[in-house]
Amino acid sequence: MLNQIAETAKFIASKLPINKPLAGIILGTGLGGFADEIQKPSALSYTDIPNFPQSTVEGHDGKLIHGFINGVEIIAMKGRFHYYEGYGMDQVVFPVRVMKQLGIENLFLSNASGGMNPSFKVGDIMIINDHINLFPTNPLLGKNFNELGPRFPDMSQPYAKSYISLLKDCGAELGISLQEGVYAGVSGPCFETPAEYKYIRIIGADAVGMSTVPENIAAIHLGMKVAALSVITDLGVEGVVEQVSHEEVQMAARAAEPKMASVLKLFLTKLA
Ligand code: HPA
Repeated sequence: MLNQIAETAKFIASKLPINKPLAGIILGTGLGGFADEIQKPSALSYTDIPNFPQSTVEGHDGKLIHGFINGVEIIAMKGRFHYYEGYGMDQVVFPVRVMKQLGIENLFLSNASGGMNPSFKVGDIMIINDHINLFPTNPLLGKNFNELGPRFPDMSQPYAKSYISLLKDCGAELGISLQEGVYAGVSGPCFETPAEYKYIRIIGADAVGMSTVPENIAAIHLGMKVAALSVITDLGVEGVVEQVSHEEVQMAARAAEPKMASVLKLFLTKLA
């Protein structure tokens, strides 16, 4: 695995004009359009990157994009690898490990989720301040590679406190109200039953989704700092649980995209 990470990073560095990117960004459902705002972009299709998992979903144009946001050098992933697609956890988190190998110390994650906090509305954006891993596994199971990180990583600050307050500052400055809360990561691909939403709420989560937790765990293991935002695309609030479809999730996420993009842009500017 270490050889694969090194080989892939070397390939990417030979194809993209990488200097010292400040952050890696994983654009989830609801932030794909952000890719169009990257200045001086150069991109690689995932299909052309050695050792990158290949998308199982037809018409899913996964791309790794290098460029600048307000002059800040970044690398963005348009499209991520979800556990429910059948990838192993090693594959799901592989790009994060490659980013670290490329010298990136900060990771920004975005996703869409179902809101269980009764004060949330569809279209709200939540700063993820902690998570609960409800995936049936963990990307760090098995042999530990000490070159990547410790056997027993500390998870006391999965989302950097300083980045949470920076995100809050960005919201305030832009006049965009941001929620804050705990994200529960589940395998999917089913959305939750009413009883499952209730259960996940009771154990302490404000939102639930099918990504982000594996990438966060891999990043913390690597010693990276992480910030994350989630678009609330449907509600799993007791008594308010309604039918939900992938199309509705995508539509709600797309509607919130401009807000999410402004916050992310300002965040990167302040980070620099
Ligand atoms: N549950 C799980 N994943 C999701 C949801 C949800 O309600 N909404 C968007 N992704």
